[in-house]
Amino acid sequence: MRPLSNRTETFSDSIIRRMTRISDECGAINLSQGFPDFDPPKAMTDRLVEVAKEGPHQYAVTWGAQNFREAVARKQEHFSGMKINPNEEIVVTCGSTEAMMAAMMSVVNPGDKVVVFSPFYENYGADAILSGAEPIYVPLVPPEFNFDPEVLEDAFRLGAKALILCNPSNPSGKVFTREELQLIADLAIRYDAYVITDEVYEHIIYAPNKHTYLATLPGMRERTIICNSLSKTYSITGWRLGYVIASPEIIDRVRKVHDFLTVGAAAPLMEAAVVGLNMPDAYYEELAAHYAHMKAVFTDGLRDLGMSFTDPQGAYFVLVDITPFRKKEESDYEFCVRMIRETGVAAVPGSSFFREDVNHLMRLHFAKSDEVLYEALNRMERLKMS
Ligand SMILES: Cc1ncc(COP(=O)(O)O)c(C=O)c1O
Repeated sequence: MRPLSNRTETFSDSIIRRMTRISDECGAINLSQGFPDFDPPKAMTDRLVEVAKEGPHQYAVTWGAQNFREAVARKQEHFSGMKINPNEEIVVTCGSTEAMMAAMMSVVNPGDKVVVFSPFYENYGADAILSGAEPIYVPLVPPEFNFDPEVLEDAFRLGAKALILCNPSNPSGKVFTREELQLIADLAIRYDAYVITDEVYEHIIYAPNKHTYLATLPGMRERTIICNSLSKTYSITGWRLGYVIASPEIIDRVRKVHDFLTVGAAAPLMEAAVVGLNMPDAYYEELAAHYAHMKAVFTDGLRDLGMSFTDPQGAYFVLVDITPFRKKEESDYEFCVRMIRETGVAAVPGSSFFREDVNHLMRLHFAKSDEVLYEALNRMERLKMS
């Protein structure tokens, strides 16, 4: 048999999804793959039941149902203050995952350089491989996860055509300040580069941090490709609904890529999700308060266990230092597999997020009920004994 594609040869499977599989095999508490264990808003699931009876059940317009795009535009205008034309500036995708891929495919030629901050969400590596981009990694240096403006400028000097910005950031929990975003914007404008933003955690922010939409900075609207999703905001990671917002010229290209990648997002789910997009401000305030509560429960517990970890400004992950608990010569991956087997709690080895040689961290997420978080913390106590 002839070899399969060179392009995909270097792919490993997703470490996050692999840890989930091992976790499921062992019946562990899965704090590796980030998804909530609580239900979406009832109004959305009630609407889904109605839609199951009434439809639509056939293809929607390939770039997204009209009422869904209008609801996205209204909601994002409300939070960002940007004007968004639902007919020309939005493509609805199968999650932010497809949004990012479609954005990369639309912007990048094989061999083009793309700046990626490290640590990074693992899909960006695959997006780069599939689109043929050559990533230039710029470190976000722990514990504050700040970047060195000089190092960033060096990456642009190498001719980067785009930068990927995950804000709020997975796995570091960093929320970029307006000043940092201004630095990025200045460089993007100076070196004529695009910025592809991944803003899926825009509403999961811990006070006093605030989410700033990069596209609202002067000169950035036309060069920013916003990728976003309903997965996290409405606790519907399985509905696979996301979107791209960009200028009409860029959207025209993204529409075509999207059309050939997936044709479209699921019509009945778009219809039901409009209810979510129309929620009042109180919904987002309650969501943020709920996450602040889960974060407090989990991080207080980690502190009681004597663990040292990053305190996130946004998103729902912590990076925990495994140095005191791991055996001699044990890699972070081996440690995480052993932790699943010995304690029944699953995490993601930190090295899967870093370009640099970092292997003393694991990522845990806390989008879980109090009961599950307390049980996970109890189980992790065993690490101290092993
Ligand atoms: C930063 C980031 N972007 C994108 C996604 C995937 O989003 P979606 O479910 O919309 O594809 C995740 C999921 O964990 C994520 O953490």
